[in-house]
Amino acid sequence: MAKFDFSNRDSFGSKIGVIAAAAGSAIGLGNIWRFPYVAGENGGGAFLLIYIGFIIMIGVPVMLSEFVIGRRAQRNPVGAFRLLAPKSRWPLIGFMGITAAFTILAFYTTVAGWTLEYLYLAVSNGFQGQSKADLQNNFGEFVASGTRPLVWQVVFMLLTAWIVFKGIKNGIEKYTKILMPLLLVIIVGLCVRALTLPGASEGLIFLFKPDFSKINGNVVLQALGQSFFSLSIGMGTLITYGSYISKKDNLGLTAVSVSVADSLIAILAGIAIFPAVFAFNITPEAGPSLVFITLPLIFEQMPGGYFFEIIFFVLLAIAALTSTISVLEVAVAYLAEELDMSRKKSTIIASTGITILGIFCTLSMGPLPELGFGGMNLFDILEKLSANIFLPLGGLFIVLFVGWKMGKNNVFAEISNDGLLKVRLKWVYLFIIRFIAPIAIALVFLNGLGLFGVFSGGDL
Ligand code: TRP
Repeated sequence: MAKFDFSNRDSFGSKIGVIAAAAGSAIGLGNIWRFPYVAGENGGGAFLLIYIGFIIMIGVPVMLSEFVIGRRAQRNPVGAFRLLAPKSRWPLIGFMGITAAFTILAFYTTVAGWTLEYLYLAVSNGFQGQSKADLQNNFGEFVASGTRPLVWQVVFMLLTAWIVFKGIKNGIEKYTKILMPLLLVIIVGLCVRALTLPGASEGLIFLFKPDFSKINGNVVLQALGQSFFSLSIGMGTLITYGSYISKKDNLGLTAVSVSVADSLIAILAGIAIFPAVFAFNITPEAGPSLVFITLPLIFEQMPGGYFFEIIFFVLLAIAALTSTISVLEVAVAYLAEELDMSRKKSTIIASTGITILGIFCTLSMGPLPELGFGGMNLFDILEKLSANIFLPLGGLFIVLFVGWKMGKNNVFAEISNDGLLKVRLKWVYLFIIRFIAPIAIALVFLNGLGLFGVFSGGDL
């Protein structure tokens, strides 16, 4: 079969396209259902401050490091390390990223599939007249039922595969450029609705009032973990996207813009959700239930609820889709470039493999609970393996690679476009990726392994 033609590699067509795609990757289920809850439970405003601190101090530098590797090498994560560090073990980091693409997508498309079911229910007015207990039962039954979640999961995977198959310019860039502005409009609309509810201020207090008494080592590490997952860093997604960025674009500015957009959407999601939760006297609950049980209950009682529940689940589905395409692209780029497959073939193979793993993941939520060990089903295991092990480890090695292995002249050349841009904070960046980020990430990783005894929640 013909060798991959690197001279004719696809790329993003515009700066806006890069931002849309990378922000699309970052903004996902992690922002809209996970962030508000984790922030609320961990001290609200105090958590938010620490979270934002981590985004600026560690998230942005790690993201920039991924862009540096990707654009320098113009390759998928495995190929990038092979090219930049020949005859070394560094490509193992790339392989870990490919593995993480499979494990992340398997559980992520499970949840993404639920959003389609709930969108369908919202449109067909399926929450009408249901009590909280009804909603809880229905959610539990649906998730455990096997067939329906599977069908939606496969539909979601097909959507993802279709966009990725179309390529970078005509697929990922084209769709994220339409979907991301739409997402912004929807979330702003939901915020306006939430803020105009009587009693909205209580929700804002819950989200923003700094309660420093809730801050401890675990909370700090949770904030770091959330920032990693939310920014899509640590598995080579942004190495891959970075490899499609034009040599003329400003990588530092891109990393800052994407991180600002990601944080903004997380905060807006909190503003959209908590006032409504408090206005209807509901206690904020963990993870999936907040979005799939509590929100339908709120929408039922809210003026204009039918309309807002539909756009809310459209929002979730869009956010999830622009994230899943970025993860699938990692595996597809690897197969195409390293194993010389056509884009079509690599998309089919990667999606099929992920779907098979995903099917087991969905089945482990109900029909096949024996898929798992130690009280965790496959869904939990894949989620924890990805977030608590692969991402921190990947992020750690990425900053070590850029900080200590690539050579500072190469790194400075890449972030300054060979001296064309003045990068004022380059020494600060170098200091962070050499010292601060590796140490902080190592702490998250040790926490993920439970060495500080805070694994129990497991939701880093
Ligand atoms: N950041 C996305 C979210 O918040 C999920 C995601 C996409 C991701 N690509 C990733 C997480 C790569 C980790 C690594 O939902």
